Amino acid sequence: MLVQTITPNATYEFAADVRNGLTMPGQKELPSKYLYDEVGSALFEVISHLREYGLTRADERLLRRHAGDIVERLATPVAVAELGSGSGRKTRHILESLCRRQRTAYYPIEISPSALAMCERELSDIDAISILGFEREYLEGLLEVAAQRRSGQHLCVLFLGSTIGNFDRLAGINFLAEVRRILQPGDSLLLGTDLEKSSAQLIAAYDDELGVTAAFNLNLLARINRDLDADFDLAQFEHVAKINHTDRSVEMHLRSMCRQTVDIPAAGLSVQFLEGETIWTESSHKYSPQEIFPMASTAGFRCDVQWIDEEWPFAENLLIAE
Ligand code: AVI
Repeated sequence: MLVQTITPNATYEFAADVRNGLTMPGQKELPSKYLYDEVGSALFEVISHLREYGLTRADERLLRRHAGDIVERLATPVAVAELGSGSGRKTRHILESLCRRQRTAYYPIEISPSALAMCERELSDIDAISILGFEREYLEGLLEVAAQRRSGQHLCVLFLGSTIGNFDRLAGINFLAEVRRILQPGDSLLLGTDLEKSSAQLIAAYDDELGVTAAFNLNLLARINRDLDADFDLAQFEHVAKINHTDRSVEMHLRSMCRQTVDIPAAGLSVQFLEGETIWTESSHKYSPQEIFPMASTAGFRCDVQWIDEEWPFAENLLIAE
């Protein structure tokens, strides 16, 4: 087993994205990728165990049940790249099954150094695996992985946990098309998609009783305080989850509970908030099982198989690059 990590410096980009998002005319926003610093990644891990949030367990159940079938359908020899590896717990099922067949190179691509470290720790005991982590944006990391490809070797890209749902629908298809451009015909993409469910179930999942999702969302302001020396008063903001019926998504916002001004020196910014004004921090789009097929084909893939969980509507889709 071999574990390595490749790391850049990201504070400058964070400051620029915070400045752009909080000076937008109309709705203020912050990119959801910044929810995942060390604290945010740990809180997301807790969310994945909450009774109300069945998404991660459904994803893992499907991977556990169908790992053998998934691996049998992959063109070999194959290396595995994962976009947003998280803790790596779910990926173990696929990697163990694959490593029983061949020595496997696994490339987790993550912008969160703590999540990358957690995933490397979790998976390093698998026999016949070599792990090379990339602390990169997804497409940038995938390009580097593709550059390491040996002749005749296929790539299987894992994009699990319905992270695709954090893009809007069009951006999601465009992202899949970008992934396809990096791949070769016969390569595969295993795509996890959370499916539509009742508004009550979604609100409970994104505004849990214990307040873990609220802490996960508020941590974004705490992170701006920590990393950019800002003075957000967390007690003056509250977590809000709401359904967007038009977009078929759940949105997370942070609502200012009073009129206030916040200084963010490292972003060269002083921001005013009205009482009730929100910062939009994340959207989680939900899909119908049928819409995955045209989405895949628009992006240059064929959906080979779709597995759906029986307890929590969630689909694992095996897409093959055409
Ligand atoms: C990572 N992503 C798919 C999660 C989701 O459900 O959109 C993040 C999350 N946000 C709140 N709870 C979980």
